[in-house]
Amino acid sequence: MTNDELPISLSASDVAGPIRMRRNRRHDWSRRLVQENRLSVNDLIWPIFVRDGDNQSEAIASMPGVFRYSVDQAVKQVQRAARLGIPAVALFPYTDPALRDETGSEALNSNNLICKACRAVKAVVQDVGIITDVALDPYTSHGHDGLLEGDEIVNDASVEMLVRQALNQAAAGADVIAPSDMMDGRVGAIRHGLDQNGYQHVQIMAYSAKYASAFYGPFRDAVGSSGTLKGDKRTYQMDPANSDEALREAELDIAEGADMLMVKPGMPYLDIARRLKDTFQMPTYAYQVSGEFAMIEAAAANGWIDREKAILESLLAFKRAGCDGILTYFAAEVAELIGQ
Ligand code: PBG
Repeated sequence: MTNDELPISLSASDVAGPIRMRRNRRHDWSRRLVQENRLSVNDLIWPIFVRDGDNQSEAIASMPGVFRYSVDQAVKQVQRAARLGIPAVALFPYTDPALRDETGSEALNSNNLICKACRAVKAVVQDVGIITDVALDPYTSHGHDGLLEGDEIVNDASVEMLVRQALNQAAAGADVIAPSDMMDGRVGAIRHGLDQNGYQHVQIMAYSAKYASAFYGPFRDAVGSSGTLKGDKRTYQMDPANSDEALREAELDIAEGADMLMVKPGMPYLDIARRLKDTFQMPTYAYQVSGEFAMIEAAAANGWIDREKAILESLLAFKRAGCDGILTYFAAEVAELIGQ
């Protein structure tokens, strides 16, 4: 048996039929072979909410499946993260309203919830990084990230508070300081403060491009600032209309000593993540924020989308946009799904 009879042509001009993009998609093995981006457990950062008390896990109505944990329970969740291979967690406090004041002074208390949580976690888990948020909103009676004078969020006095807050967290064992306040000059001031006080090794993940977004609603419920917030954050967080401005913010943060950049929210700002990655080649992260989480959960609860597929697709989108990792409330569940 020979194949002498098969029609072939040696003329280059008529070899190519229509280009068939579907050939590579025909088989599962082939799809796997040509896949450009992959989500791995190493890409996940898990935000965890902490409250006071003992043996408590309190549901958050607008974030189904997410809880505020007392420190002992939060430690268990971080142990779970360690077992799953999740590289880092981000801790956020729900501060007792009685402890909130004009200046957010509880942020500087070396025995506040975040510090207690950092110490408790460090005592038993060593191989998960702890990221702590630097901003005053969980501690202020007005719910703003900085100090309020009249109706202005004053910059430089706020930065001074934020440096002290960062030092307080570093002393409690935080590995990564994540300023989310959007005050000018805070990354440099925090870097300087850390270096001066023996915390040269503590990293800074800058919320470089943090937008004044409508997608933070459920988070503000979770940390109890939705009721307290007076006005909005548009004089410090970025205008969702802007993109070049994000590059300037990131450039400043890099110059001031940021080790990693973050974009927030995530999905509506994938273009920003891509621009930052292409421009600076820095470790770049996105925060799939509470409102994005809630949208997926709400649609899934209505049976309108396939929950697991939507979650995985949403996270893969961040990889495609150039992100090195994603802060996501789905982290533990996804780590279980995709394994190590
Ligand atoms: C605090 C902070 C916010 C979030 C993270 N850190 C809220 C805000 O800026 O009002 C939002 C995270 C989320 O929505 O999941 N500065």
